Amino acid sequence: MTPDPNSPPAAPPQDPQTISAWDAAHVIHPWESMGTEMPDRTIAAKAEGIHLYDAEGQRFMDGPGGMWCVQIGYGRREMAEAIADQVMTLTYNSPWSFASEPSARLARKLAQLAPGDLNSVFFSTCGSSAVDTALRFVQFYNNLRGRPEKKLFLAREKGYHGSTYLAASVTGKDRWKNPMDIEQRLVRFLPDINPYHRAPEQGEADWCDEKVEDLARAIRVEGPDAIAAFIAEPVIASGGVIVPPADYLRRCRELCREHDILFISDEVVTGFGRLGHWFASESVFGIVPDIITCAKGLTSGYLPLGATIISDRLLSEISKEDRAEVLFKNGYTYSGHPVCCAGALKNIEIMERERLLEHVRQVAPLFQSRLRDLGRHDIVGDVRGMGLLGCVEGTARPDLPEARRFDIDQHFGERVDAACEARGLIVRPLLNMCVFSPPLIITKTQINEMFDILDDAISEVQAEML
Ligand SMILES: Cc1ncc(COP(=O)(O)O)c(C=O)c1O
Repeated sequence: MTPDPNSPPAAPPQDPQTISAWDAAHVIHPWESMGTEMPDRTIAAKAEGIHLYDAEGQRFMDGPGGMWCVQIGYGRREMAEAIADQVMTLTYNSPWSFASEPSARLARKLAQLAPGDLNSVFFSTCGSSAVDTALRFVQFYNNLRGRPEKKLFLAREKGYHGSTYLAASVTGKDRWKNPMDIEQRLVRFLPDINPYHRAPEQGEADWCDEKVEDLARAIRVEGPDAIAAFIAEPVIASGGVIVPPADYLRRCRELCREHDILFISDEVVTGFGRLGHWFASESVFGIVPDIITCAKGLTSGYLPLGATIISDRLLSEISKEDRAEVLFKNGYTYSGHPVCCAGALKNIEIMERERLLEHVRQVAPLFQSRLRDLGRHDIVGDVRGMGLLGCVEGTARPDLPEARRFDIDQHFGERVDAACEARGLIVRPLLNMCVFSPPLIITKTQINEMFDILDDAISEVQAEML
């Protein structure tokens, strides 16, 4: 795109110190610490492929792929062109009054990619609003079906579903440490499903039985007539990349079906190729949920967009003629935004043309085996992952002195992150863990480079911390 010669010159770039000062003075970041002063953040200045550059021009491989979202990599000119073309053709239309080609086309495409009879799409602006929409739809659905008492949501410890009030309410991550209000009356949490936390003598099959029993017990205790839906990420992402025991999701799906409880699969992270498929629910775990939520990789992070994909069966159960005047009063100014939908369509087109799902399936075994190798470091307690998702967890070995254990528990992630950054790799620290979800275009050579850096960085941290 050539710049318009009539437009005024852009504001001159500022030096990094000034930007940092403005940021510190005026920006409240997500999950910002209000108690302690945050260190200056690195200023992301540009990005290309799988790399980010800071304001000094230093290059970093982007281990977390933005925030689990940059599937096709940064700086794709054809994305910029598709987005710019849509801005010039139809910048915006009210979704209340009009339809548009990009949103209709994208909804049709998502219906083709989604499993089973999930054919209707409500567009929102992010993962949180997609989850919120799913939960509000479930409440609406039960009200219309004449069972307003069927309202509880079952969710899981360590699950993350977003930051709007309802999505945050079904989020089980760190909820005991949460100074924010949540809607406790609507939610019951099932215990941690992480197989790493099972007793040493317990096998994975027993662990699976126990976790399915957790769901069965909650259904017995609350009663199926009180429970509206079970919400689950196929692989718990920001709670620490927790891969469920084999067959867990299928058995939970069955239990839900048996008790007329809806199953919401939150594929905000696992969707769009992260596990080598458009959606993981059916292709990886063999389940067809009632509702799928997605966002992030849907546009590869180029534009904000969320989607809630709902089964035909649910819609047919509530779309009786005599209820035609009942409104689903849920909507966003930017629902089905034509520019975001055009961006998503181009993103999907690129993923199809470049056969990115096949690529992920080809490179994932190397990614997973290099990840598993990190387990040989004494300071590493667990390594786990699936597809292009991975996590390294620092050990809380009981034989270590209390202070040392506390330090690893609180700082392992940030120490590894700092050691990786010094070597040109960003990872996402989460207390005693680091998680990775690189752009899906990552090559085998780059995967080796990424894990060589991690290996080296963990050795350094181990020498300092153990
Ligand atoms: C599984 C899952 N659901 C929902 C969300 C919320 O998405 P967003 O941050 O786009 O609102 C996230 C964000 O990380 C997520 O990981």
